[in-house]
Amino acid sequence: MFANPLIERLDSRSAVIAIVGLGYVGLPLAIRYAEVGYRVIGIDIDHDKITRLNAGQSYIDHIPAGKVAVAKANGFVATSQFDVIAEADAIILCLPTPLSRQREPDLSYVLNTLDAIKPWLHAGQVVSLESTTYPGTTDEEVKPRIESTGLTVGEDLFLVYSPEREDPGNARFSTDNIPKICGGITPHCLTVGIALYGQVTNQVIPVSSTRTAEMTKLLENIHRAVNIGLVNEIKMLTDRMGIDVYEVINAAATKPFGFVPYYPGPGIGGHCIPVDPFYLTWKAHEYGIHTRFIELAGEINNAMPGWVVQKLIDALNRVGKPIKNSKVLVLGVAYKKNVDDARESPAVRVMDHLARKEAIVSYSDPHLPVFPKMRDHRFDLQSLALTEQSLSDQDAIIITTAHDLFDYDFIKAHAKLIIDTRGVYRVSDPKVIKA
Ligand SMILES: NC(=O)c1ccc[n+]([C@@H]2O[C@H](COP(=O)([O-])OP(=O)(O)OC[C@H]3O[C@@H](n4cnc5c(N)ncnc54)[C@H](O)[C@@H]3O)[C@@H](O)[C@H]2O)c1
Repeated sequence: MFANPLIERLDSRSAVIAIVGLGYVGLPLAIRYAEVGYRVIGIDIDHDKITRLNAGQSYIDHIPAGKVAVAKANGFVATSQFDVIAEADAIILCLPTPLSRQREPDLSYVLNTLDAIKPWLHAGQVVSLESTTYPGTTDEEVKPRIESTGLTVGEDLFLVYSPEREDPGNARFSTDNIPKICGGITPHCLTVGIALYGQVTNQVIPVSSTRTAEMTKLLENIHRAVNIGLVNEIKMLTDRMGIDVYEVINAAATKPFGFVPYYPGPGIGGHCIPVDPFYLTWKAHEYGIHTRFIELAGEINNAMPGWVVQKLIDALNRVGKPIKNSKVLVLGVAYKKNVDDARESPAVRVMDHLARKEAIVSYSDPHLPVFPKMRDHRFDLQSLALTEQSLSDQDAIIITTAHDLFDYDFIKAHAKLIIDTRGVYRVSDPKVIKA
């Protein structure tokens, strides 16, 4: 049994935890560590987030301000100063891992941050990477950077990879009851990793290496991307065949084994599913493998916003209207229901298609009162309040994200034409087009 003062501090909850990157992953984790009694320091480069968190406010819809306030009362502080790393026993990196414009892994956030914290790393600490990435990142990229300080991983400092599993907006699961995968660079690293996470989650699942842990996370997300691609392809076929795809999926889901229901939509969104599979595709090339399932699912899912807009164009055509100058309201801009996150949202891609065709585009999303700033999309719009007048003014409405806060009966009562990409309206109606 490997005994170490760091493990004792983790077990007794006297260790100081530094969470780097206070986003959708880092903030709930920081709150959870504070909740169980650790002193937690949050580090982020976004000054606005730091100010709000230090004032006990939340900036994420599904994280109540009360939870931040309790964390604050338990000693949680947020800062942009990296020198606090010197005080930390555990450093957990929850940084973005996007794709570059060429759709290649962009590890710059992780690697630049490692360079920034290096001067304050010292013996007796554990570093955990949580960002989703390709197998090999922790041992090929993170370990050498840490060891360039003169510290030896597995002896002086411990290094693990433990991917985040989050389902924002899902009230049944949170950090404490989602089993957590953990892989270490060495067996001692893994032991420390288990001590680090064992206090805040009900189950730590140890795996034999950081590469296995990295690959596990990618498999989980690729599994979703591929199955959503499959069901989107089936949807296009059933649409032509006059079969209701939702009826088919729900009937298939009565099979008590061997079938998992996935539902079609206007494409895939969020920070994970559209991005992560391509981390593996890129790495696979190094091994001479072309990951065809991933590419194909990406192709089908990426084609969905255009397919939805074509359904709208056809429906308008039937009533003698061109898409140009038609008023189209997009309902739900977040990438999934009941959240306020519009990253990579297919709704935004639908809006882009509409704008290119010179439709008069507006949107309504109770979770996003102002259209968010995005790197690749720009709409100077505010969420439209849904009234009899604002609905009946539209030539068409596209339901892209079926938030619970929408009143679907009211919408249907006052809309002229609805393109329903989420299977909201199950009873057939001449003004509702399934897409
Ligand atoms: N959002 C999810 O549901 C989810 C689920 C599982 C895994 N992940 C993965 O977790 C990682 C983080 O995702 P996220 O959704 O929390 O991202 P996010 O964009 O919400 O949060 C990242 C945070 O890091 C901060 N940041 C950026 N550069 C920094 C730096 N140099 N130093 C300190 N802070 C910095 C940003 O300001 C932001 O607050 C990604 O790899 C993602 O793929 C996300």
